Amino acid sequence: MAIELLPEPGTAVENIDTPAMIVDLDKAEANIRDMQRTVEEGGAAMRPHTKTSKSPYWAQKMIDAGAIGVCCAKVGEAEVLVEGGITDILITSQIVGASKIARLAAISGNANIRVVVDDPTNAREISDAALLAGSVVGVLVDVNIRLNRCGVEPGEPATSLAKIVDQLPGLRFDGLNGYEGHVYEIGDARIPETMEAMEKLQYAVADVKAAGLPVRTVSAGGTSTYDITSRVSEVTEIQAGSYLFMDGEYVDQKMPFQPALTIMTQVISRPTVDRAILDVGLKSIANDYGPPRVLGTDGAEFTKLSEEHGTLQLDERAQGLEHGDLVHLLPSHAGTTINIHDHYFCVRDGVLENVVEVAGRGKFR
Ligand SMILES: Cc1ncc(COP(=O)(O)O)c(C=O)c1O
Repeated sequence: MAIELLPEPGTAVENIDTPAMIVDLDKAEANIRDMQRTVEEGGAAMRPHTKTSKSPYWAQKMIDAGAIGVCCAKVGEAEVLVEGGITDILITSQIVGASKIARLAAISGNANIRVVVDDPTNAREISDAALLAGSVVGVLVDVNIRLNRCGVEPGEPATSLAKIVDQLPGLRFDGLNGYEGHVYEIGDARIPETMEAMEKLQYAVADVKAAGLPVRTVSAGGTSTYDITSRVSEVTEIQAGSYLFMDGEYVDQKMPFQPALTIMTQVISRPTVDRAILDVGLKSIANDYGPPRVLGTDGAEFTKLSEEHGTLQLDERAQGLEHGDLVHLLPSHAGTTINIHDHYFCVRDGVLENVVEVAGRGKFR
């Protein structure tokens, strides 16, 4: 089998082979610091979501900067994080089915694992598996706070589920989870809509407490709302994730974080004066949120993405592009782009500092 040699630290960025997923470490680290500071100032802790970054390397960096742990979406992602030395993880999706529940119970023996639950039968199945594995699984009752995805309604439905969880052996009722992910690209409605979502969560917290249960953890928030949500006194931790790299979708929302991840490509063909073809395609950049944007090459517009080719339309300013010239693209959606790459090439001041495996790539079970 042919072995692809990875570039050594110290390699100039322009000598990394393309297409390559490049992270500007200074920018990513500034994003981590800025988020951590704002959330702490708001009175909450950071528990960043790693479903986008999919790597214990980034999880550890965010913990080193002050995060109390991380979130992930799947048991497979949690397994990779535990293997990479991360010991405090909240799984923010419902874990259903005997095989996944057994794996959840197994990793809970090696780390502080919490999972969200919105169904009593699911809670009983996790309890049975934890007893069998001799482990304890922390549980947050998932509350629907207007996202209308998963979660029980605040008030009686959330409180009665909390009581069930609290009584089940092998489970530890830790509190509530509510994600206001519908607050996204809504301009002036951002603050009032976030507050309406928070009122739902506050009501749920008050109702569970009134039933005599302690609510130690209230997890909420994303990159579009962290500055509002972290100031809500009931909220103990913020689960934002996209701020780390800031893809095209998030950049449009004008949050104070910098795009830190690009796909570096090169020109492989110059068929006409106003057209250049790049060595990037659907197999190396996702377009589920639209085409990528060209960064740093004025006068070049990305017009077409096929399986192995990317087409640029060039005006006079970019018509000097030649075969082999490098072009950086900002993916519209980092999560689905990262999931098709094996490595991050982490660069500082134009020089490769380290190559990081996307260890959680494809771990969607
Ligand atoms: C449950 C949950 N929490 C937190 C996040 C992170 O939100 P963001 O990507 O806006 O930072 C997500 C992302 O989709 C999510 O699904």
